[in-house]
Amino acid sequence: MRTRCEIWAPAKLNLGLSVLGRRMDGYHDILTRFVAVDLYDQLVFTRRISGGVSLHLQDVSAGVRPEGFPLDEGNLILKAVRLVERETGIRASLSVSIRKAIPIAAGLGGGSADAAAALLAMTRLYDIRVSRQELGAWGSQLGADIPFFLGESAALGRGRGDELSPIALFRQWWVILVTPPVFVSAKDVYGDLRLTLGAKAANFDDCRDREGFLAALRRSHNDLEAVVLRRAPEILLWQGRLREQGAAGVFVSGSGPTVFGVYMNQPPEETVQSLRGGGTGARVVVARPVTTPLALVVQ
Ligand code: C5P
Repeated sequence: MRTRCEIWAPAKLNLGLSVLGRRMDGYHDILTRFVAVDLYDQLVFTRRISGGVSLHLQDVSAGVRPEGFPLDEGNLILKAVRLVERETGIRASLSVSIRKAIPIAAGLGGGSADAAAALLAMTRLYDIRVSRQELGAWGSQLGADIPFFLGESAALGRGRGDELSPIALFRQWWVILVTPPVFVSAKDVYGDLRLTLGAKAANFDDCRDREGFLAALRRSHNDLEAVVLRRAPEILLWQGRLREQGAAGVFVSGSGPTVFGVYMNQPPEETVQSLRGGGTGARVVVARPVTTPLALVVQ
């Protein structure tokens, strides 16, 4: 058995999200295109003889506000460890150190990515024989986005977003992610959907080549966007600024507040710096799609 496991957990984007209806379990049935991008939380899990499980926030990138990141049982990493303990009867003793680069509660799936990393780390550190698919089914009890991070790096999500089918994706593009410093609750956004239900479903056609990808961008939209905009109107300004820079598409990710522009060429440094200026407090990051969702760092 290993004693140390390092995992890079990426952020996800939703390239289009249609809400199809309410479910009996309090969730909504959705159809979305998930894509993992190279903005990573780095997690190191170290097994120890005793002492239970402790979390250590090592480093927080500028603009990532750690207030929403509890270091106790409320943290999804700990919930994931407890879930594996229940499923297997193992009692874990672990130290987990986290370098947080994905903005918290931002629509980028950071908490879910960290939880998926914890599930995978547990299987490595305690030699648990379970498929990624089964691990995903365990994870879906904690959050609808978690199974995506245990599967392929681009996928269509159905149901709560946890019924996944991999998609072939054109990958020669960049995104500028802007996360304004506002808190928008996913639960509230979904709960306030009256105005957008019944909207035309986004296009989820094949986007394996450049033309298909551009056509899919033109026809994609996020049904949650109108609700997010009402709660955080400054996103409208950011959408305008991202379009001015020549974005092929501008979308809100998940239930926001992150908004991103898709570019077919690498955005120049001056563009990024100008978006960072002005003291808005927004986190502005350039990212690219990746081919592996959770990257195990081999030692
Ligand atoms: O699964 P997760 O904890 O990320 O979801 C946060 C909240 O977002 C849920 O409690 C639910 O209110 C809402 N949600 C939803 N339908 C989905 C995904 C999330 O209503 N498919």
